[in-house]
Amino acid sequence: MEQVITVLGLESSCDDTAAAVVRDGSESPEILASVVHGQTDLHSAYGGVVPEIAARAHAEKLDVCVREALNEAGLTLGEIDAIAVTAGPGLIGGVMSGVMCAKGLSAACDLPLIGVNHLAGHALTPRLTDEIAFPYLMLLVSGGHCQFLIVHGPEKFTRLGGTIDDAPGEAFDKTARLLGLSQPGGPSVEAEARNGDPSRFRFPRPLLDRPDCNLSFSGLKTALLRMRDQITSEFGGLTRQDRCDLCAGFQQAVFDTLAEKTRRAIRLYIAESPRDPVLAVAGGVAANSAIRDALLSVCASESVKFTAPPLALCTDNAAMIAYAGIELFRLGQCDGLDLTARPRWPLDRTSPSMLGGGKKGAKA
Ligand code: KG4
Ligand code: ZN
Repeated sequence: MEQVITVLGLESSCDDTAAAVVRDGSESPEILASVVHGQTDLHSAYGGVVPEIAARAHAEKLDVCVREALNEAGLTLGEIDAIAVTAGPGLIGGVMSGVMCAKGLSAACDLPLIGVNHLAGHALTPRLTDEIAFPYLMLLVSGGHCQFLIVHGPEKFTRLGGTIDDAPGEAFDKTARLLGLSQPGGPSVEAEARNGDPSRFRFPRPLLDRPDCNLSFSGLKTALLRMRDQITSEFGGLTRQDRCDLCAGFQQAVFDTLAEKTRRAIRLYIAESPRDPVLAVAGGVAANSAIRDALLSVCASESVKFTAPPLALCTDNAAMIAYAGIELFRLGQCDGLDLTARPRWPLDRTSPSMLGGGKKGAKA
């Protein structure tokens, strides 16, 4: 019987301020509370996340989130065993706000402090929701991240590949902006694509000619811009149908590429771990039903189980940080008050990132 552990988690690496309480040990891991305060309204006028605005909002909202999470869980800080906090990667002002808040709580209540890699939080979520055993393959697709990881353990990851420029959610958001659709772009582009013809416009399928698992999305946005401008100069503007067809063509290109690279990642993973293979997906883009269908059919044809956490746990949240904290705590991992906030923090140190900073900050 494992020791019962209750951890308070904090997340503030991008544009969601979150706190959660997770307990593990008696039976399955249990989310006792999960509070998320999003910042979409604060950034909407700027067309992207403004780091300084994000950091100030995190600093204002973190203690509110902690109070709400403890109330929801019906617990006091005295009943918590450890504090887990996102210590990177992300927008540094926000990460620092979370780390400072966690250090304050840890020092005041004499609680162990655990710095968690935000990407590890996403990557370990299938163990929180479905108790998936190691090693499994993870596809992380959000506004800030895109990578294939073999998850061997709470601290052991192999990065098989990822985007060399934009993350897919970022490409959806930019596409929506180019077509005058609302933000976040993913849901609005998906809605328009439902009424569109994906074969009317020919979008490229970037990097499919290369055998690796790397992806590129920035060229799709440029292709869309060119098509939009051509229609506008020929016909004086876009009709609703033009917009739907552009969205459908763009979305199909993103998902064809993701599906094919997923097939390649699955084959690399299975060559290493052929028993009970599982592909898990996480990140906001996993909300898209077309991508779920595409991944499901790749998994069916490769005889791999497919799992996707519920949407609230695919997007940024603190339950994943608290749970990752529990896994690290069980390994004896703890940090001192010298824990530092890290804007970059690749999960797989042997496979350095090819990415620069994006609209949502450093992508590790
Ligand atoms: O994981 P997330 O909440 O935040 C981070 O990026 O960390 O993901 C948000 C991203 C946005 O770029 C949004 O446009 C995209 O996920 N997204 C979608 C859909 N819903 C959200 N992309 C495609 N289709 C969707 N239905
Ligand atoms: Zn994230």
